Amino acid sequence: MKREVKRELLDELPAGDRGAIGARRDLQKVNACMGHAHIMVRALAGTFTGRSPRSIVDLGAGDGTLLLRLAKSIAPRWKPVRVVLVDRQRLLSPRTKAEFAALSWHVDSLEMDVFDWLQRPHPEPSDVTIASLFLHHFKEHDLRRLLGHAADQTGFFLACEPRRVNFSLCAAALLGVIGCNRVTRHDAKISVRAGFAENELSALWPLDEGWRLRERQAGLFSHCFVAQRIPGPVL
Ligand SMILES: C[S@@+](CC[C@H](N)C(=O)[O-])C[C@H]1O[C@@H](n2cnc3c(N)ncnc32)[C@H](O)[C@@H]1O
Repeated sequence: MKREVKRELLDELPAGDRGAIGARRDLQKVNACMGHAHIMVRALAGTFTGRSPRSIVDLGAGDGTLLLRLAKSIAPRWKPVRVVLVDRQRLLSPRTKAEFAALSWHVDSLEMDVFDWLQRPHPEPSDVTIASLFLHHFKEHDLRRLLGHAADQTGFFLACEPRRVNFSLCAAALLGVIGCNRVTRHDAKISVRAGFAENELSALWPLDEGWRLRERQAGLFSHCFVAQRIPGPVL
């Protein structure tokens, strides 16, 4: 299937639109079906063995509940983490913020375009940057630019996106069965067609031998990309 990026309804609708509000709730179900929190926990736990990252940035974070689910699963093994949620809409609820606080994770939610945030000077790189159901919004040129900035900003980049295959398209057509609304059913098909396969994200990561790249199918419907900075020699 050839990759095709189209505008999604959720990106066009005002935040207060009933369909948009329902679709944001649906995203929690979609993420649960795709297993993104679980996939990410496994990738992070396998990398950060015996040490905790101090900071996690979530690009296109939505309401932050995906990262909260991840945090609940991994918090007992890690020291407290500083979290930055970047999204062009401010969607973090007081309840989600309180749930992060209960884990001793401090959250900042920034209402910003991802490029504006990535191009800002960052006093310290983040230990981890994640993206779930976000990269597929961008065409190749912007994606290359986004990944280039991310490589300057983090030491570990992890993305879970739709896998661009017919099987995912069939699953997207069945989302009504789990109660997803018209907006979600429409956007899910667009998201699969804009999703990824093979080594498409690795090909857009900056050419630099200082990174270890992995890209593979994850779960039933997802495509996972990991870029990990290879530690340099201690001088
Ligand atoms: C499909 S939602 C995914 C939300 C969340 N990551 C998850 O997995 O539940 C995509 C999110 O990206 C945000 N977004 C889209 N384009 C953006 C941009 N250029 N800068 C920042 N956020 C953006 C949208 O507002 C939306 O919340």
